[in-house]
Amino acid sequence: MRVPSVVTIAGVDPSGGAGVLADVKAISAQRAYACAVVTALTAQNTQAVAGIQAVPPAFVREQIDVLFADVVIDAAKIGMLGGRAVIEAVALGLQRWAPCHIVLDPVMVAKSGDALLARDAAGALRDALLPLATVITPNLPEAGVLLEGRAPDSLREMRQTAERLRERMAHAGQRWVLLKGGHLPYGDAIDLLTDGDKMIELASPRVATKNTHGTGCTLSSALAALLPQVSDVPEAARRAKAYLTKAIESADLLNVGKGHGPVHHFHAMWR
Ligand SMILES: Nc1ncnc2c1ncn2[C@@H]1O[C@H](COP(=O)(O)OP(=O)(O)OP(=O)(O)O)[C@@H](O)[C@H]1O
Ligand SMILES: [Mg+2]
Repeated sequence: MRVPSVVTIAGVDPSGGAGVLADVKAISAQRAYACAVVTALTAQNTQAVAGIQAVPPAFVREQIDVLFADVVIDAAKIGMLGGRAVIEAVALGLQRWAPCHIVLDPVMVAKSGDALLARDAAGALRDALLPLATVITPNLPEAGVLLEGRAPDSLREMRQTAERLRERMAHAGQRWVLLKGGHLPYGDAIDLLTDGDKMIELASPRVATKNTHGTGCTLSSALAALLPQVSDVPEAARRAKAYLTKAIESADLLNVGKGHGPVHHFHAMWR
């Protein structure tokens, strides 16, 4: 089988724990070829985001057009976009090239608590990108913002939220919500996956570590890399979650930085 090519459209985190660098590692670990379109540069480490420099929207669009004109892209993962104009540029680019699988991670806030999306841009994310996505992977606060309400804080509320988000997505074709429960205040790390028909619980033990920088980026990128290889979305999501859980379990081996360090993307190779 041809090795799938997967593009991440996201920001750069110089500490390598999140953003494009984490995405490239996660995609590569799933045996896919990684490409990257950069939407923003950040001055960031494992402790905080000190600065953000947006890439001009027209240049984001140019990166997409030039890449897709040459490389057959099997899946795209969307991460940090920063603001409305870049969201619109990415939406137009993906509408034109229409890759088979689009995983939208609606990134709004970094693990450090710093904002990664302009306050007025959540509406554009919802209106321009939700209809294009095959899978969206919000965390609990992001799900609250997308539905213009508060974040769910129990498994019961998570079920309702996942269903309501699914209703906001396009109806044609296979569309899924993967609602991540990492922010639940207690218990296992439980994510919910729904296509509006089935509701599947993806649970893993909560690993006791501070090194969880980029867990969301890693999960959505692994999923984007697996979708072209595993036709069943629930099976691809199970494998992505299993990969992420092992990467978190091995994170303390890396011990990078003084804050929330990265997960170990190559845990299976570096034994
Ligand atoms: N301590 C942990 N142990 C195991 N799994 C975890 C832990 N924390 C988060 N997860 C899992 O990691 C994934 C990302 O979840 P989370 O809800 O933290 O996303 P996020 O807030 O978008 O992450 P990020 O801040 O990296 O963008 C989910 O699958 C979640 O269940
Ligand atoms: Mg996230």
